[in-house]
Amino acid sequence: MSKPVRAAVFPVAGRGTRFLPATKASPKEMLPIVDKPLIQYAVEEAVAAGATKLVFITGASKRAIEDHFDSDPELERALTEAGKTELLHSIKDIVPDGVSCVYIRQGEPLGLGHAVLCARSAVGDEPFFVHLADDLIAGTPGCLSQMAGEFQNHGCSVVAVEEVPQESTSSYGIVAVEDAEKGSRMTEIVEKPSPENAPSNLAVVGRYLLVPEIFDKLESTGRGAGGEIQLTDAIADLLEDTDVYAYSFSGDRYDCGSKLGYLEATVAYGLAHKEIGEAFREILKEYIRR
Ligand code: G1P
Repeated sequence: MSKPVRAAVFPVAGRGTRFLPATKASPKEMLPIVDKPLIQYAVEEAVAAGATKLVFITGASKRAIEDHFDSDPELERALTEAGKTELLHSIKDIVPDGVSCVYIRQGEPLGLGHAVLCARSAVGDEPFFVHLADDLIAGTPGCLSQMAGEFQNHGCSVVAVEEVPQESTSSYGIVAVEDAEKGSRMTEIVEKPSPENAPSNLAVVGRYLLVPEIFDKLESTGRGAGGEIQLTDAIADLLEDTDVYAYSFSGDRYDCGSKLGYLEATVAYGLAHKEIGEAFREILKEYIRR
Protein backbone atom coordinates (compact mmCIF):
# COMPACT_ATOMS: atom_id res chain seq x y z
CA MET A 1 0.00 0.00 0.00
CA SER A 2 1.47 3.39 -0.97
CA LYS A 3 1.35 6.44 1.27
CA PRO A 4 -1.84 8.51 1.02
CA VAL A 5 -1.46 11.78 -0.86
CA ARG A 6 -2.20 14.68 1.48
CA ALA A 7 -0.78 17.79 -0.18
CA ALA A 8 -1.98 19.46 -3.36
CA VAL A 9 0.00 22.21 -5.06
CA PHE A 10 -1.76 24.84 -7.16
CA PRO A 11 0.60 26.99 -9.24
CA VAL A 12 -1.44 30.18 -9.64
CA ALA A 13 1.19 32.85 -10.21
CA GLY A 14 0.71 33.17 -14.01
CA ARG A 15 -0.80 36.46 -15.22
CA GLY A 16 -3.28 35.04 -17.74
CA THR A 17 -2.38 37.42 -20.54
CA ARG A 18 -4.64 35.53 -22.95
CA PHE A 19 -7.63 36.85 -21.02
CA LEU A 20 -6.62 40.50 -20.77
CA PRO A 21 -8.19 42.89 -19.96
CA ALA A 22 -10.32 40.58 -17.73
CA THR A 23 -7.21 39.44 -15.88
CA LYS A 24 -5.57 42.84 -15.44
CA ALA A 25 -6.46 43.17 -11.75
CA SER A 26 -8.01 39.80 -10.94
CA PRO A 27 -6.54 36.31 -11.17
CA LYS A 28 -7.39 34.13 -14.18
CA GLU A 29 -8.08 31.33 -11.68
CA MET A 30 -11.02 33.40 -10.38
CA LEU A 31 -12.77 33.36 -13.76
CA PRO A 32 -16.10 31.62 -13.13
CA ILE A 33 -17.54 28.65 -14.95
CA VAL A 34 -21.24 29.39 -14.34
CA ASP A 35 -21.06 30.25 -10.61
CA LYS A 36 -17.77 28.88 -9.30
CA PRO A 37 -14.27 30.11 -10.01
CA LEU A 38 -11.85 27.74 -11.73
CA ILE A 39 -9.70 27.52 -8.60
CA GLN A 40 -12.65 26.27 -6.56
CA TYR A 41 -13.23 23.40 -9.01
CA ALA A 42 -9.52 22.65 -8.58
CA VAL A 43 -9.72 22.62 -4.79
CA GLU A 44 -12.85 20.46 -4.78
CA GLU A 45 -11.17 17.90 -7.04
CA ALA A 46 -8.08 17.77 -4.80
CA VAL A 47 -10.09 17.53 -1.56
CA ALA A 48 -12.22 14.73 -3.06
CA ALA A 49 -8.96 12.89 -3.81
CA GLY A 50 -7.91 13.12 -0.13
CA ALA A 51 -5.86 16.33 -0.03
CA THR A 52 -5.86 18.05 3.37
CA LYS A 53 -3.14 20.63 2.74
CA LEU A 54 -3.67 23.02 -0.16
CA VAL A 55 -0.53 24.86 -1.23
CA PHE A 56 -1.07 27.84 -3.50
CA ILE A 57 1.96 29.25 -5.29
CA THR A 58 0.86 32.80 -5.89
CA GLY A 59 2.15 36.04 -7.37
CA ALA A 60 1.15 39.63 -8.02
CA SER A 61 -2.60 40.44 -8.14
CA LYS A 62 -3.63 37.09 -6.69
CA ARG A 63 -5.01 38.34 -3.38
CA ALA A 64 -8.56 37.44 -4.43
CA ILE A 65 -7.67 33.73 -4.25
CA GLU A 66 -6.76 34.06 -0.56
CA ASP A 67 -9.94 36.00 0.11
CA HIS A 68 -12.02 33.39 -1.69
CA PHE A 69 -10.81 30.56 0.56
CA ASP A 70 -10.97 32.63 3.74
CA SER A 71 -14.08 32.99 5.88
CA ASP A 72 -16.19 36.14 5.46
CA PRO A 73 -18.11 36.71 8.74
CA GLU A 74 -19.85 39.84 7.50
CA LEU A 75 -21.29 38.14 4.41
CA GLU A 76 -22.15 35.04 6.46
CA ARG A 77 -24.08 37.19 8.94
CA ALA A 78 -25.95 38.98 6.17
CA LEU A 79 -26.95 35.69 4.48
CA THR A 80 -27.99 34.18 7.83
CA GLU A 81 -30.17 37.18 8.64
CA ALA A 82 -31.74 37.05 5.18
CA GLY A 83 -32.47 33.30 5.65
CA LYS A 84 -30.45 32.43 2.52
CA THR A 85 -29.28 29.06 3.85
CA GLU A 86 -28.24 27.50 0.56
CA LEU A 87 -26.11 30.49 -0.41
CA LEU A 88 -24.66 30.55 3.10
CA HIS A 89 -23.48 26.94 2.73
CA SER A 90 -22.08 27.67 -0.72
CA ILE A 91 -19.67 30.20 0.78
CA LYS A 92 -19.04 28.58 4.18
CA ASP A 93 -18.14 25.08 3.07
CA ILE A 94 -15.65 25.94 0.33
CA VAL A 95 -12.74 24.66 2.42
CA PRO A 96 -13.97 21.76 4.55
CA ASP A 97 -12.97 21.33 8.20
CA GLY A 98 -9.60 19.65 8.56
CA VAL A 99 -8.26 21.13 5.32
CA SER A 100 -5.68 23.91 5.54
CA CYS A 101 -4.45 26.46 3.00
CA VAL A 102 -0.86 27.63 2.61
CA TYR A 103 0.13 30.56 0.38
CA ILE A 104 3.65 30.93 -0.94
CA ARG A 105 4.78 33.73 -3.24
CA GLN A 106 6.72 32.81 -6.35
CA GLY A 107 9.01 35.82 -6.40
CA GLU A 108 10.13 35.44 -10.00
CA PRO A 109 8.29 34.06 -13.04
CA LEU A 110 10.72 31.18 -13.62
CA GLY A 111 8.21 28.62 -14.83
CA LEU A 112 6.06 25.74 -13.65
CA GLY A 113 9.00 23.71 -12.36
CA HIS A 114 10.13 26.65 -10.24
CA ALA A 115 6.59 27.12 -8.91
CA VAL A 116 6.47 23.48 -7.80
CA LEU A 117 9.90 23.81 -6.19
CA CYS A 118 8.56 26.76 -4.17
CA ALA A 119 6.17 24.26 -2.51
CA ARG A 120 8.99 22.05 -1.23
CA SER A 121 8.99 23.12 2.42
CA ALA A 122 5.20 23.00 2.64
CA VAL A 123 4.96 19.54 1.06
CA GLY A 124 7.92 17.88 2.81
CA ASP A 125 8.97 14.31 2.12
CA GLU A 126 5.57 13.12 0.88
CA PRO A 127 3.93 12.35 -2.45
CA PHE A 128 1.78 15.25 -3.66
CA PHE A 129 -0.60 16.40 -6.35
CA VAL A 130 0.01 19.27 -8.75
CA HIS A 131 -3.13 20.74 -10.23
CA LEU A 132 -3.24 23.36 -13.01
CA ALA A 133 -6.59 25.10 -12.71
CA ASP A 134 -6.65 26.10 -16.41
CA ASP A 135 -7.30 22.47 -17.27
CA LEU A 136 -10.82 21.85 -16.06
CA ILE A 137 -11.70 18.15 -16.08
CA ALA A 138 -15.23 16.86 -15.61
CA GLY A 139 -14.93 13.25 -14.49
CA THR A 140 -16.49 10.88 -11.96
CA PRO A 141 -14.53 10.21 -9.89
CA GLY A 142 -12.40 13.31 -10.39
CA CYS A 143 -9.14 13.03 -12.31
CA LEU A 144 -6.94 13.33 -9.18
CA SER A 145 -8.95 10.57 -7.44
CA GLN A 146 -8.40 8.33 -10.44
CA MET A 147 -4.67 9.10 -10.31
CA ALA A 148 -4.53 8.43 -6.55
CA GLY A 149 -6.02 4.99 -7.30
CA GLU A 150 -3.32 4.40 -9.91
CA PHE A 151 -0.65 5.47 -7.39
CA GLN A 152 -1.96 2.89 -4.91
CA ASN A 153 -1.30 0.22 -7.56
CA HIS A 154 2.41 0.85 -8.04
CA GLY A 155 3.64 3.70 -5.79
CA CYS A 156 5.22 5.67 -8.66
CA SER A 157 4.58 9.17 -10.00
CA VAL A 158 1.56 9.49 -12.26
CA VAL A 159 0.99 12.09 -14.96
CA ALA A 160 -2.40 12.55 -16.63
CA VAL A 161 -2.32 12.40 -20.43
CA GLU A 162 -4.69 12.77 -23.33
CA GLU A 163 -4.33 12.50 -27.10
CA VAL A 164 -4.18 15.85 -28.91
CA PRO A 165 -4.05 16.66 -32.63
CA GLN A 166 -0.49 16.23 -33.92
CA GLU A 167 -0.32 19.92 -34.88
CA SER A 168 -0.86 20.88 -31.21
CA THR A 169 2.13 19.07 -29.71
CA SER A 170 4.07 22.32 -29.34
CA SER A 171 1.58 23.48 -26.68
CA TYR A 172 2.14 20.56 -24.30
CA GLY A 173 4.53 18.24 -22.59
CA ILE A 174 4.44 15.15 -24.82
CA VAL A 175 5.16 11.60 -23.67
CA ALA A 176 6.04 8.26 -25.21
CA VAL A 177 4.72 5.15 -23.44
CA GLU A 178 5.53 1.44 -23.37
CA ASP A 179 2.11 0.23 -24.49
CA ALA A 180 -1.40 1.50 -25.08
CA GLU A 181 -2.77 0.65 -21.61
CA LYS A 182 -4.80 3.23 -19.65
CA GLY A 183 -1.93 3.50 -17.17
CA SER A 184 1.32 2.80 -18.94
CA ARG A 185 4.99 3.23 -18.11
CA MET A 186 6.42 6.35 -19.66
CA THR A 187 9.56 5.99 -21.73
CA GLU A 188 10.11 9.63 -22.68
CA ILE A 189 8.75 13.09 -21.91
CA VAL A 190 9.61 16.31 -23.72
CA GLU A 191 8.34 19.88 -23.30
CA LYS A 192 6.46 21.37 -26.25
CA PRO A 193 8.11 19.56 -29.19
CA SER A 194 7.27 20.58 -32.75
CA PRO A 195 4.88 18.13 -34.49
CA GLU A 196 7.80 16.71 -36.53
CA ASN A 197 9.86 15.98 -33.42
CA ALA A 198 7.10 14.85 -31.05
CA PRO A 199 7.50 11.25 -29.82
CA SER A 200 3.69 10.81 -29.95
CA ASN A 201 0.52 12.88 -29.71
CA LEU A 202 -0.03 11.96 -26.06
CA ALA A 203 -0.06 15.25 -24.15
CA VAL A 204 0.39 15.95 -20.46
CA VAL A 205 -2.63 17.79 -19.08
CA GLY A 206 -2.56 19.75 -15.84
CA ARG A 207 -2.61 16.91 -13.29
CA TYR A 208 0.43 15.31 -11.71
CA LEU A 209 0.96 13.03 -8.73
CA LEU A 210 4.63 13.25 -7.88
CA VAL A 211 6.98 11.54 -5.47
CA PRO A 212 9.09 13.94 -3.34
CA GLU A 213 12.29 12.91 -5.21
CA ILE A 214 11.09 15.31 -7.91
CA PHE A 215 12.28 18.25 -5.75
CA ASP A 216 15.96 17.31 -6.08
CA LYS A 217 15.46 16.96 -9.82
CA LEU A 218 13.87 20.42 -9.94
CA GLU A 219 16.85 21.84 -8.04
CA SER A 220 19.32 20.43 -10.54
CA THR A 221 17.56 20.42 -13.90
CA GLY A 222 18.39 24.02 -14.88
CA ARG A 223 16.49 26.20 -17.32
CA GLY A 224 14.81 24.53 -20.28
CA ALA A 225 12.29 25.59 -22.93
CA GLY A 226 11.57 29.34 -22.86
CA GLY A 227 14.39 29.89 -20.34
CA GLU A 228 12.16 28.49 -17.57
CA ILE A 229 12.60 25.68 -15.07
CA GLN A 230 10.35 23.04 -16.60
CA LEU A 231 8.52 20.42 -14.57
CA THR A 232 8.67 18.26 -17.70
CA ASP A 233 12.49 18.26 -17.63
CA ALA A 234 12.54 17.25 -13.96
CA ILE A 235 10.16 14.39 -14.72
CA ALA A 236 12.49 13.32 -17.56
CA ASP A 237 15.33 13.28 -15.00
CA LEU A 238 13.19 11.29 -12.55
CA LEU A 239 12.52 8.73 -15.29
CA GLU A 240 16.20 7.84 -15.27
CA ASP A 241 15.87 6.59 -11.67
CA THR A 242 12.29 5.35 -11.28
CA ASP A 243 9.13 4.47 -13.17
CA VAL A 244 6.64 7.19 -14.02
CA TYR A 245 3.20 6.30 -15.30
CA ALA A 246 1.20 8.10 -17.97
CA TYR A 247 -2.45 7.83 -17.10
CA SER A 248 -5.27 8.26 -19.64
CA PHE A 249 -8.00 9.56 -17.35
CA SER A 250 -11.74 9.14 -17.86
CA GLY A 251 -13.52 12.46 -18.28
CA ASP A 252 -13.75 15.56 -20.45
CA ARG A 253 -11.03 18.19 -20.34
CA TYR A 254 -11.61 21.85 -21.14
CA ASP A 255 -8.64 24.09 -21.82
CA CYS A 256 -9.81 27.13 -19.87
CA GLY A 257 -6.52 28.86 -20.61
CA SER A 258 -7.95 29.57 -24.08
CA LYS A 259 -11.06 31.61 -24.85
CA LEU A 260 -12.69 28.87 -26.89
CA GLY A 261 -12.00 26.18 -24.29
CA TYR A 262 -13.35 28.48 -21.61
CA LEU A 263 -16.55 29.10 -23.56
CA GLU A 264 -16.94 25.38 -24.25
CA ALA A 265 -16.62 24.66 -20.52
CA THR A 266 -19.22 27.33 -19.78
CA VAL A 267 -21.64 25.67 -22.21
CA ALA A 268 -20.97 22.15 -20.86
CA TYR A 269 -21.26 23.14 -17.18
CA GLY A 270 -24.18 25.45 -17.92
CA LEU A 271 -26.12 22.62 -19.56
CA ALA A 272 -25.33 20.29 -16.64
CA HIS A 273 -26.28 22.87 -13.98
CA LYS A 274 -29.22 21.73 -11.86
CA GLU A 275 -30.78 25.16 -11.49
CA ILE A 276 -30.36 26.71 -14.95
CA GLY A 277 -29.44 23.74 -17.21
CA GLU A 278 -32.86 23.28 -18.83
CA ALA A 279 -33.49 26.97 -19.42
CA PHE A 280 -29.97 27.37 -20.83
CA ARG A 281 -30.58 24.46 -23.24
CA GLU A 282 -33.64 26.29 -24.60
CA ILE A 283 -31.61 29.47 -25.08
CA LEU A 284 -28.92 27.56 -26.97
CA LYS A 285 -31.54 25.92 -29.19
CA GLU A 286 -32.87 29.36 -30.01
CA TYR A 287 -29.38 30.54 -30.99
CA ILE A 288 -28.93 27.50 -33.24
CA ARG A 289 -32.27 28.19 -34.98
CA ARG A 290 -31.28 31.79 -35.79
C1 G1P B 1 2.25 23.38 -18.81
C2 G1P B 1 3.35 22.32 -18.90
C3 G1P B 1 3.07 21.38 -20.07
C4 G1P B 1 1.69 20.77 -19.92
C5 G1P B 1 0.63 21.89 -19.78
C6 G1P B 1 -0.74 21.31 -19.49
O1 G1P B 1 2.35 24.23 -19.94
O2 G1P B 1 4.60 22.96 -19.04
O3 G1P B 1 4.04 20.36 -20.10
O4 G1P B 1 1.40 19.95 -21.03
O5 G1P B 1 0.96 22.78 -18.73
O6 G1P B 1 -1.72 22.30 -19.46
P1 G1P B 1 1.60 25.67 -20.01
O7 G1P B 1 0.18 25.36 -20.38
O8 G1P B 1 1.74 26.29 -18.66
O9 G1P B 1 2.31 26.42 -21.08
